[in-house]
Amino acid sequence: MRPNKSELIEMLSLQNKDEVEALYKRAYEVKRQNCGTVVYFRGIVELSNICTKNCFYCGIRKDNQSTDRYLMGKAEVLEAARWAWEQNYGSIVLQAGEREDAWYVSYVNELLQEIKTLSNSELGITLSLGEQTEEVFRTWQESGAHRYLIRIETSNPTLYKTLHPADHSFERRLDVIRTLKKLGWQTGTGVMMGLPGQTIEDLANDILFFYDEDIDMLGMGPFIPHHDTPLKHLVQGYDGDAALELALKMIAACRIALQDINIASTTALQALNPTGREMGLLAGANIIMPNITDTKYRGNYQLYDNKPCLDENASQCVHCLENRIASIGETVGYKEWGDSKHYQNSR
Ligand code: 5AD
Ligand code: SF4
Ligand code: FES
Repeated sequence: MRPNKSELIEMLSLQNKDEVEALYKRAYEVKRQNCGTVVYFRGIVELSNICTKNCFYCGIRKDNQSTDRYLMGKAEVLEAARWAWEQNYGSIVLQAGEREDAWYVSYVNELLQEIKTLSNSELGITLSLGEQTEEVFRTWQESGAHRYLIRIETSNPTLYKTLHPADHSFERRLDVIRTLKKLGWQTGTGVMMGLPGQTIEDLANDILFFYDEDIDMLGMGPFIPHHDTPLKHLVQGYDGDAALELALKMIAACRIALQDINIASTTALQALNPTGREMGLLAGANIIMPNITDTKYRGNYQLYDNKPCLDENASQCVHCLENRIASIGETVGYKEWGDSKHYQNSR
């Protein structure tokens, strides 16, 4: 059933502490019934911070000169993938800034084929590599990737325009999401919560957007201003606690409204509170993406300020996360892809 907009607005507007807690509990119960209390890991490899785009909020935007640009070599990527596979992770995510040149597209393609080979096709592969053509999506799909994450950032085209340069197109972003669905990818999108100029109604519309586009997975996080971006003036006076609460309410409302999709408890939650990712799980999220990028690159993949785990390596993060998950009475689903139940249910 299509979610009711005024109910969504009501959930997202709650302020009273007890009522907010009750919302999280309700969302947790919906998660328990639809997805159980198993958390799926996707090891995230931050393949490259080279980006051709200039989103106003993002710390690795092209015009930010104060970050050193890198692209991980093939051996490094394969080593990270092998590590994840040996740790019994069901899947990995390759994430990077956006570029569409032919050399890069075929580099990614080689990586996909070699990761599939080294893991006897056991490791699931999710891509988070920005906007690409239908042809590229087909190629990467044939080489074994089966999930794609691309956030709409906001479903309000007018707000989208205020956060991106004129040549970044909301319509193309939407088109890409629809193309992925058409090609049969498990499709993930998401928004940032607390964007400058964003209203509660915008967030309610985002949830309706997820429903209408039949989205399988969500990755959403609080907007956190970065000191080297055009939005740096928002660093001062930024209220992290309020941002965290809004983000958690959004996760909870999405779980209640959309039921059986996968929802990630994102790193940005942990940037605002050391236990932010546990809070995300308790508000209805069921996916965690442990960072498995070599620590030498992490300092240069700062999309927002205060990103955690700069110095912790993959194995430290995973043990830390295992403990965090155990602390709230949940378990990790090793060796399973943990596909979106929504995707399975809608086939
Ligand atoms: N705060 C929070 N999230 C951000 N992202 C980019 N910049 C920021 C920021 N300042 C998110 C975007 C993008 C994802 C890879 O990172 O939503 O889609
Ligand atoms: Fe590039 Fe993505 Fe950052 Fe935009 S949000 S500048 S596309 S990495
Ligand atoms: Fe990275 Fe805790 S999640 S050290």
